[in-house]
Amino acid sequence: MLWGRWAERWPYSRTVRDETIAIHGGYQGESTRAVAVPVYQTVAHDFINAAHAGAIFDLEAPGFHYNRINNPTVDVLEQRITALEGGAAAVAVASGSAAVRYSVRNVTSMGSNIVAAPQLYGATYTYFAHVLPTEGTEVRFAVDDKAASMERLIDASTRAVFFESIGNPAFNVVDVEEVTAMAHSHGVPVIVDNTVATPFGMKPLCHGADIVVHSLTKFVGGHGTTLGGVVVDGGRFPWAEHPARFPMFNEPEPAFHGVVYARDFPHNAYAVRCRTVGLRNEGATLAPLNAFLLLQGLETLPVRLERQQQNALAVANFLAADRRVAWVRYLGIADDPYHELASKYLGGRFPPLVTFGPVGGYEAAVRFFDSLKLWKRLVNMGDAKSLVAHPASTTHRQLDAAALEQVGITADMVRLSVGLEHIEDLLEDIDQALG
Ligand SMILES: Cc1ncc(COP(=O)(O)O)c(C=O)c1O
Repeated sequence: MLWGRWAERWPYSRTVRDETIAIHGGYQGESTRAVAVPVYQTVAHDFINAAHAGAIFDLEAPGFHYNRINNPTVDVLEQRITALEGGAAAVAVASGSAAVRYSVRNVTSMGSNIVAAPQLYGATYTYFAHVLPTEGTEVRFAVDDKAASMERLIDASTRAVFFESIGNPAFNVVDVEEVTAMAHSHGVPVIVDNTVATPFGMKPLCHGADIVVHSLTKFVGGHGTTLGGVVVDGGRFPWAEHPARFPMFNEPEPAFHGVVYARDFPHNAYAVRCRTVGLRNEGATLAPLNAFLLLQGLETLPVRLERQQQNALAVANFLAADRRVAWVRYLGIADDPYHELASKYLGGRFPPLVTFGPVGGYEAAVRFFDSLKLWKRLVNMGDAKSLVAHPASTTHRQLDAAALEQVGITADMVRLSVGLEHIEDLLEDIDQALG
């Protein structure tokens, strides 16, 4: 079914737990009773007649028409993530970057601005700093991730506050409730990139946020095979109360036969507009096979995370005790500056990501990076395989020293995404690479 109506058809208690949703959510079999979600590798769907086609096009009847806009396999993924995040509806797209773009473009227009925390994934920072402004939207970066710093930048043209619940790779944890309360007091919605935390770590919508985006490429897919992203609509922001700030939800939409989204779709206006204006016109569609692969990853995510977290803690402790290491950060360590906030929001489910600086700065970091044998040198994270990145020379190499500092990166920072291998093999490789 379209537009996140899965919960109404769910035969069990509405309160089934996340692990159960990750395996069954959004799918109850179809006519062939296939137990795995079928890959609907099709471009379009056969209408019964013109009236049926018209009802689907006008969003009056649920159904599928053209697979740039929606697809039954992708629909299951959307409903599963919606249920895990506690949202109203979701729109899956081809990558996390597309999700970030669609989430922001759904509320911005020429002359508007958004306010962002500075600790962002490199490509998001570049997009905000250098691309969105060319489309007439200014991005105002706060000096830090605190509510008061973001509040100073909000004005009548601000359309959203954007931050990563856990910044990548700064691993700061934003106080979602505080920032959300502040933004709402100005009539501004909050968009949260929840990629690093995953819905098993944190559910920003349950802390008041309005929109959640994910790169599904990371922990959800979990095997380094598939790009994907999703935009989740919490369904609670009162768009109709702010007609001047959000004309796109309160005036007839010329790009979709005069629909007034806040009036016609009061419970999921944002998601419906994201699909019918964003995805329909810009077309960063998630392929059905990729949705299938991401669904498979999602099934085992909670179990993988548990083991990866055990391994990450062991890696962090090993590094913290080693004289060849200048500093270590892991949210699960009690003296981490964000440990308290992480404990409040993650309830102990710290992402298996560790950063550290070897003694000897940039050169030592590059030497360590080059010397690893088992850990994969690449710019992904969240894989079953253990991965290493050196942001200053890779993902963030286009940023100058000042910008690096702003996004929370030091030249010596090595980022480890800890996988599922045997912990002793991981530690032995780190030990030899430290030299
Ligand atoms: C926090 C965060 N958001 C968005 C993205 C972009 O996702 P994708 O690579 O799927 O486009 C990434 C990628 O690393 C990320 O870490």
